[in-house]
Amino acid sequence: MRFSSASLALAALLLPSLASANFAPTRHSPPPVKKPPKVSCTLKATGHDDAPQFLEAAKACSTVTIPKSTTLNIQTRMNMTGLRDVHINLEGTVKFSDNIPYWSGNGFFIPFQTQITFWLLGGENIVLDGGGTLDGSGQLWWDTFASNSSLLRPITLTIFQAKTVRVENIRMINSPEWHNLVNEGQDVVFNKINISSLSTSSHGAANTDGWDIYRSDNVAITNSVIVNDDDCVSFKPNATNILVENLDCTGSHGISVGSLGQFAGMFDIVENVLAKNVKMTNAQNGARIKCWAGPNVGSGIVKNITFENFVETAVQNPIVIDQCYMTNATACAQFPSNTIIQDVWFNNITGTGTSSTVASLSCSPDGRCSDINVNDIHLAGPSGTAKFSCQNVNITGNAASLFPTCTVT
Ligand SMILES: *[C@@H]1O[C@H](CO)[C@@H](O)[C@H](O)[C@H]1NC(C)=O
Ligand SMILES: *[C@@H]1O[C@H](CO)[C@@H](O)[C@H](O)[C@H]1NC(C)=O
Ligand SMILES: *[C@@H]1O[C@H](CO)[C@@H](O)[C@H](O)[C@H]1NC(C)=O
Ligand SMILES: *[C@@H]1O[C@H](CO)[C@@H](O)[C@H](O)[C@H]1NC(C)=O
Ligand SMILES: *[C@@H]1O[C@H](CO)[C@@H](O)[C@H](O)[C@H]1NC(C)=O
Ligand SMILES: *[C@@H]1O[C@H](CO)[C@@H](O)[C@H](O)[C@H]1NC(C)=O
Ligand SMILES: *[C@@H]1O[C@H](CO)[C@@H](O)[C@H](O)[C@H]1NC(C)=O
Ligand SMILES: *[C@@H]1O[C@H](CO)[C@@H](O)[C@H](O)[C@H]1NC(C)=O
Repeated sequence: MRFSSASLALAALLLPSLASANFAPTRHSPPPVKKPPKVSCTLKATGHDDAPQFLEAAKACSTVTIPKSTTLNIQTRMNMTGLRDVHINLEGTVKFSDNIPYWSGNGFFIPFQTQITFWLLGGENIVLDGGGTLDGSGQLWWDTFASNSSLLRPITLTIFQAKTVRVENIRMINSPEWHNLVNEGQDVVFNKINISSLSTSSHGAANTDGWDIYRSDNVAITNSVIVNDDDCVSFKPNATNILVENLDCTGSHGISVGSLGQFAGMFDIVENVLAKNVKMTNAQNGARIKCWAGPNVGSGIVKNITFENFVETAVQNPIVIDQCYMTNATACAQFPSNTIIQDVWFNNITGTGTSSTVASLSCSPDGRCSDINVNDIHLAGPSGTAKFSCQNVNITGNAASLFPTCTVT
């Protein structure tokens, strides 16, 4: 561990008697758990693996600064959980190594969808900001994944078992896989995040979702610019009370609810989502909800979802509900989705699609979607015309007349 400016303070901290003399707590209740308030530490690159000093500083210091000219090289996984009142001031860069044999064997395992991550950040009252960069060194991962689809690739940042977290003014580049996972988080804000994962080879930056929210409540993602491949933001099982606002997404698979109801025996909830003021460009989807049907899948509910003020340019599928996701028509008729969809609004969605169908609201047979609303939809297809399609759903709202009588299957 090398601290440039705070080694004295830190030395005091590590000697309990001195610490109590020098750092009287300013709060009375509850008392500080681990450390006195206001210990600032500044990290310098060690020239070898910087993970140990970063972990130690996050435990010992209330502010950890990584200065602008500094790049921390992270070669081993970081379990930075159980923090309390920590500010990580990232002005410089945290760069993860691309040692594939190490990470694929040692990344923290995330059971949901069989994933791994470089970094678990958790606890209470955590701020990560400073204008600096998280660099996932993704190129080698994307190139290797192209010929080995069973390769587990790390998620760059996982907010894990955390309450009251703010990640702000950070750049994230070249993530091997998802950029951010919020896994069991509450009151988490991401603001002013620039994400860019662009492959320089013929192999795409596969599965580089901007954010995935899982088993988390009250999460906001705002004022951010994302260039990636795969979902811009995805709401996974048990994402509730979510705000997505002022995003500019390019190259993505859209703002996606799901897929949900994939795993037998599980009940998935996505409720109270507002996604507004989203610019979606060169994307596979715009606003999307997808739920599994068929035999041996799970169940759940998608409720109170609003997609509002989307401007879409060159998007393959600007508006999508697919409640027979990954399920053929025969199987979907025999085993309709048990993930119910209700109270959905697509409001003020404008722009252009690249295929003739610009909106597809496709629900399972047997009335599994209800209260589906469309208002102020202005979407053009590639030739200026636009096809709207639907099945097994009653559509309401001032743009409902754009849709034909929905087929019933
Ligand atoms: C992370 O560290 C905490 C203790 O600090 C421990 O309880 C937990 O099991 C660790 N998590 C993982 C995934 O290793
Ligand atoms: C593919 O990746 C897996 C998981 O890391 C590894 O076990 C396997 O050996 C790799 N396969 C090849 C052909 O490299
Ligand atoms: C994000 O990009 C904007 C310009 O698009 C820039 O002004 C801002 O400084 C960037 N933020 C970071 C953290 O790099
Ligand atoms: C989601 O929350 C519900 C209700 O608390 C719970 O029954 C279900 O198991 C949770 N599902 C997942 C995937 O965590
Ligand atoms: C629907 O979700 C929005 C956005 O999270 C929330 O503000 C609103 O209160 C929810 N409505 C109901 C009836 O719960
Ligand atoms: C529709 O969305 C566009 C783009 O976000 C916005 O400029 C416009 O004000 C919205 N219209 C209404 C009526 O909210
Ligand atoms: C549809 O899916 C079912 C079950 O998943 C499968 O058994 C069947 O062969 C599929 N039918 C067609 C026409 O692909
Ligand atoms: C549509 O509404 C009619 C009349 O209320 C109802 O009978 C029918 O089941 C509804 N269809 C679907 C797919 O929900």
